[in-house]
Amino acid sequence: MKHAGKVVIVTGAAQGLGLASAERFHADGASVVLVDLKAERVREHAERLGDRAVWLEADLSACTADMAARVVAKAAEAFGGVDVLVNNAGVIHLDDFVDFPEEAFDWVQRVNLKAPFLLGQAAARAMIRQGRGGSIINMSSINAILAIPNSVAYAVSKGGIKQLTAVMAVGLIPHNIRVNAIGPGTILTDMVKSSVMASETQRQTILSRTPSGRCGEPSEIASVASFLASDDASYIVGQTIYPDGGRLLLDYTVAVKD
Ligand SMILES: NC(=O)c1ccc[n+]([C@@H]2O[C@H](COP(=O)([O-])OP(=O)(O)OC[C@H]3O[C@@H](n4cnc5c(N)ncnc54)[C@H](O)[C@@H]3O)[C@@H](O)[C@H]2O)c1
Repeated sequence: MKHAGKVVIVTGAAQGLGLASAERFHADGASVVLVDLKAERVREHAERLGDRAVWLEADLSACTADMAARVVAKAAEAFGGVDVLVNNAGVIHLDDFVDFPEEAFDWVQRVNLKAPFLLGQAAARAMIRQGRGGSIINMSSINAILAIPNSVAYAVSKGGIKQLTAVMAVGLIPHNIRVNAIGPGTILTDMVKSSVMASETQRQTILSRTPSGRCGEPSEIASVASFLASDDASYIVGQTIYPDGGRLLLDYTVAVKD
């Protein structure tokens, strides 16, 4: 129960990595606030988790400072404060660069980058007031570093998260608030099944570039979030940790099985 007594906000908690993270923190003893635009799903998950779980409907594509403050206020009303924020909600849009719609570019930045910025501000203000430090974890991606031709908005947003994390980290560590990011490789969630793993050819290509020879499980990302928010990670500040099965390291001239 390494997070007993803590209050954790997780965005995008209706499914995938957000749900796995909320479940992991709950199992570790924390009280959790599940935030998502899929209200029915977060309600069901919060009710299933029981006592130490509440939910909140929020469309983070329309996030403002007021909305971010409401998210943090929900944690204060339900559990008396906030100790951990997991900025996990994310979206992707795929189109060739020259055809990429402006609205899609803006939408991806609003959900993936602007909402974490505003929620990070709101959570940090509350943590500073509380005076007991805290942890903020931003969900990045290997696409913070790697480029995919039809994924400009997503790659830009995740590259932005890397730097948002760095700036927040150096700004907030004097308040004992540690900010870090997680940059997963390919993890089997709905987002991945409906985008980069949509065809068997794409699946085989991804596995041919993944030394572990398999995709990751959501629980393998949740465990990194739990670690980063714990005292075991007390000297890790402003880092992006890449749980990617070795993807980023593999020399592109070498096939996985050589
Ligand atoms: N799955 C992967 O392989 C992978 C790899 C790298 C990074 N990531 C990142 O991890 C995070 C979670 O990804 P996932 O695979 O679990 O995705 P997912 O699509 O399965 O889940 C995303 C969740 O975010 C919510 N969401 C989307 N738009 C929202 C909005 N406007 N307001 C509130 N909630 C919103 C969705 O309703 C959903 O519950 C994302 O930031 C994604 O970019 C995932």
